[in-house]
Amino acid sequence: MADWNELGRVARDWTYEAADEIKRALANPFKVEAKSGPDDLVTEVDKNTEAFFYKKIKEAYPDHLFLGEEGTVEKINHTDGIVWIIDPIDGTMNFVHQKIKFAISIGIYEDGIGKVGIVYDVMADELFYAVQGQGAFVNEVELVAGKERPLDESIIGLNARWLTETHHSHANPLTALVRDSRSIRSYGSAAIEMAYVAADRLDAYVSVNLSPWDYAGASVLLEEVGCRTSSFTGKKLSLLEGGTVIAAKPALQREIVSAYVGEEN
Ligand code: IPD
Ligand code: CA
Ligand code: CA
Ligand code: CA
Repeated sequence: MADWNELGRVARDWTYEAADEIKRALANPFKVEAKSGPDDLVTEVDKNTEAFFYKKIKEAYPDHLFLGEEGTVEKINHTDGIVWIIDPIDGTMNFVHQKIKFAISIGIYEDGIGKVGIVYDVMADELFYAVQGQGAFVNEVELVAGKERPLDESIIGLNARWLTETHHSHANPLTALVRDSRSIRSYGSAAIEMAYVAADRLDAYVSVNLSPWDYAGASVLLEEVGCRTSSFTGKKLSLLEGGTVIAAKPALQREIVSAYVGEEN
């Protein structure tokens, strides 16, 4: 049986080590490329950070599997055994343009169950951390379940770009969600925004399209504080393919699905 506390400690050490390297890299010019379009960036720092984790994991735990955004390494098609799901830099656009509000995100899963979750906001030096069944923390402070608030008192994390999408042939249901909430925030890092839900800084975070590495780390934090993650139709998030995502306090997650974005809407 794996020692999750020990694995979590090792993952945290590597995270701090990778973050030091990222901060050093920020001080010098680095190569930026567009992937699928001008809003989809990757830098050599993303790729080097992913390669750093891959090397560390394969040296220390050769039988563990690895799934990372930049795909420099292996593609997996199952979640049996121990799988590390890593986004080396979540919020690459912030990294390139703002040099703040980007995170290293790590989820360690066993047979599809989240065991360790890390979201490290590098420049804020905020490490969100959880081991299954042992609570979630930001640095040394334990996170406690935030109280449910009615939607008109709730703050939701959402990228405004999603309001420009058409949905079937009628109005985008997110428009109504935005109208009915107290306010919207958009920080540009899904992992940080989901960690903020776990930390009760946001009541929900909603996205039309994320990938497993965006939510694998934060999902473990959310679970630990009793928050929910699901697709727009209320289904469990997949670790092998992405899609729509809601991360929220339980009653709010149900309301967003049933009254706004679920199949009935
Ligand atoms: C992106 C960020 C962003 C979200 C995008 C993600 P990346 O991840 O999390 O906030 O809106 O959907 O792809 O590419 O910076 O790792
Ligand atoms: Ca990306
Ligand atoms: Ca990401
Ligand atoms: Ca990324």
